[in-house]
Amino acid sequence: MSCSLRPVGRAHRAPLERLTRATGLFREDEVATAVELLDDSLAGDDDYRFVGAFERDTLIGYACWGPTPGTEGTWDLYWIAVDPARQGQGVGTQLLVDVERRVLADGGRLIVVETSSRADYAPTRGFYERRGYTRAAIIPGYYAPGDDLVIYTKERTDGDLARAAS
Ligand SMILES: CC(C)(COP(=O)(O)OP(=O)(O)OC[C@H]1O[C@@H](n2cnc3c(N)ncnc32)[C@H](O)[C@@H]1OP(=O)(O)O)[C@@H](O)C(=O)NCCC(=O)NCCS
Repeated sequence: MSCSLRPVGRAHRAPLERLTRATGLFREDEVATAVELLDDSLAGDDDYRFVGAFERDTLIGYACWGPTPGTEGTWDLYWIAVDPARQGQGVGTQLLVDVERRVLADGGRLIVVETSSRADYAPTRGFYERRGYTRAAIIPGYYAPGDDLVIYTKERTDGDLARAAS
């Protein structure tokens, strides 16, 4: 499916909140955090960057990422979400590839993604694994008893650098 990738503006604040909630995966405090990060980003905080996927003017997905404080070239992918009605059509991949391209352009070396071990996150873990992310660490019981933190990473390769230079 073809969509355009553009910045997420103030007008998309409510749609972003609705979309995040509609995935059914995030708790209300997590939904609120996504909106707060957008507010920080719109207020000029460069630690949080957003890109949206749009079908005409409708926000159908977004990603939020930024440089990890206190590191050299490590970047966090904080958030990626696609409207449930549009999932499985390549929108998430387009967003992820765009974030990776921007991180590389900004001299990034390592991308870190945190997710959950819960069964309802299995498609999400598969999504990262099939796109070259390696399960780097697990913290058992991090989110809740029986709900582990799973940390995925993807490292810049020489091939990435050659492509970026050409
Ligand atoms: C994970 C997510 C961003 C992927 O976006 P997407 O647009 O569905 O991704 P794509 O269409 O590019 O790729 C779909 C792939 O992800 C998997 N997938 C993950 N969740 C899926 C879903 N709900 N429906 C269909 N496919 C899903 C598919 O198995 C498919 O894998 P494959 O292409 O390697 O066979 C999206 O499913 C989503 O918003 N999920 C809920 C929120 C979430 O988990 N965010 C990450 C938090 S850590």
